[in-house]
Amino acid sequence: RLYGAGRRNSAGHDLSQLDVRKKFAAALKSLDDGPAFAAGAIVSGKPETGGGELVRMPAETGRALGALKEADADEIDRALDAATKFQPEWDQLGGSKRAEHLRAMGDVLEANAAQLIALMSREAGKTLPDGIAEVREAVDFCRYYAQQAEQDFAAPVRLPGPTGETNHLSLHGRGVFCCISPWNFPLAIFTGQIAAALAAGNTVVAKPAEQTGLTAFEAVRLFHKAGLPGDALHLLPGRGETVGAALTGDLRVSGVCFTGGTSTARMINRTLAGRDGPIIPLIAETGGLNGLFVDTTALREQVIDDIIISAFGSAGQRCSALRIAFVPNATADHLIDGLIGAMNELALGDPALPQTDTGPVIDADARKALEAHMERMTREAKVLHQLDAGKLGEEGYGFGPALVELSSLDQISEETFGPVLHILRYDPDNVAVLASALKAKGYGLTLGIHSRLESFHNAVKTACPVGNTYVNRSMIGAVVGVQPFGGEGLSGTGPKAGGPHYLHRFATERVVSVNI
Ligand code: NAD
Ligand code: ALA
Repeated sequence: RLYGAGRRNSAGHDLSQLDVRKKFAAALKSLDDGPAFAAGAIVSGKPETGGGELVRMPAETGRALGALKEADADEIDRALDAATKFQPEWDQLGGSKRAEHLRAMGDVLEANAAQLIALMSREAGKTLPDGIAEVREAVDFCRYYAQQAEQDFAAPVRLPGPTGETNHLSLHGRGVFCCISPWNFPLAIFTGQIAAALAAGNTVVAKPAEQTGLTAFEAVRLFHKAGLPGDALHLLPGRGETVGAALTGDLRVSGVCFTGGTSTARMINRTLAGRDGPIIPLIAETGGLNGLFVDTTALREQVIDDIIISAFGSAGQRCSALRIAFVPNATADHLIDGLIGAMNELALGDPALPQTDTGPVIDADARKALEAHMERMTREAKVLHQLDAGKLGEEGYGFGPALVELSSLDQISEETFGPVLHILRYDPDNVAVLASALKAKGYGLTLGIHSRLESFHNAVKTACPVGNTYVNRSMIGAVVGVQPFGGEGLSGTGPKAGGPHYLHRFATERVVSVNI
């Protein structure tokens, strides 16, 4: 059965076209030449700006983009009150009318794509292809959940019953949803969480990552400009331990949608468990320790291409990114040679330029954590190759993509969030043992397989079941409605974003039985 036939994803932009590149260059120039940003909370549609911390660019830390003011206790309180008061009205509006708002949100993002892409390249260090994909995904989330709001939330479903009795089941918002998002998808995940919560009939308080508050601020301003009621969505930027903790601990919040690190998800889970009042859902999408198993039947050029994209695309800062490639003893040397050659072709530099493959990592802490990991790998494993970050490393948070050979899977047990690829040689006859050992680490997000043998695919999939398995292709860039995305175990609770079951977790079900 084909689910979701008839729906089209956003077209995006073709960077090989000169007019497209000119459009992006013009948007970047107008951002660079324009006034500094002044951003902060947006409560009931009203921006609360002035003062705050300077926002610096990861690719050039000497330059500031503007300032972001953290939401204060009064703004948090007013946002929660207004969202609580407005929620019944938003729910009663029904799925079809809410779908119109969601489509308008998607359209306004699409219309402002060039400006948003320029902003993300400056604030988050996103390359142009990543920025394009990010806007597409955000637009797709709006339209996909709009379609589901129409299908599942517009009218009650009639159920069978005895003669003289009618039974109807309807879906409703739970109340105010708190949406907490990470910096690595400052628009797509930020928008996807909000769109899902709104589609299901909730009002939203959104807390973006502290590193990417400007992108969130611009997006929310666009949503309101497109007609979304100010009380349906409030923006509360700031740190996790202050704004995030205040929101998750507040009894006016009826559900939390979180994407970020596994340890943060645990912390939020503990906060929710310790609250008085109703028991509320936590949807958590977290990290991964993602492996790719190659056998000797795989096509070398394709393997190399897919490994490079999966491990080093987005500077390795994707939850889906490849962390450990298992390469067959028989072909390992030849593959490693090819990988080093392909790494040498990667262009590191200003993420806003079309020729750049790899931009910076997000901040000083991220780079420090990667450097500490490389120090450990130098002692305990073997660093085969690392690119020099050059100017990007001097002016910004550049970090050279690295290739590390492990001698045992025991040498790594946690996600390393950046462009470090680990390689482990192995005997494909023992693939099930190694795949089970990887699964035993507890994560379950993405898995790659490169082989022409179906028996090999099945052996790996069975020993290491995960949320998203990719065979003979790259492991990143799940497409809304095509590869619903999300993991299991330490990688998250599900249901999958951009999939048919996601919205239901944001909703409560009610049945009315009437005897006539
Ligand atoms: P993070 O966990 O540090 O932060 C995520 C969000 O949680 C931020 O908005 C942060 O401010 C907030 N937060 C932090 N402490 C909090 C607290 N005590 N209470 C409430 N909120 C709090 O993660 P990050 O560094 O922003 O993102 C990178 C991580 O996200 C990686 O582990 C990556 O794998 C994961 N990720 C997962 C997915 C997925 O779909 N599975 C997608 C993208 C990123
Ligand atoms: N959904 C993102 C990907 O597939 C994280 O890469």
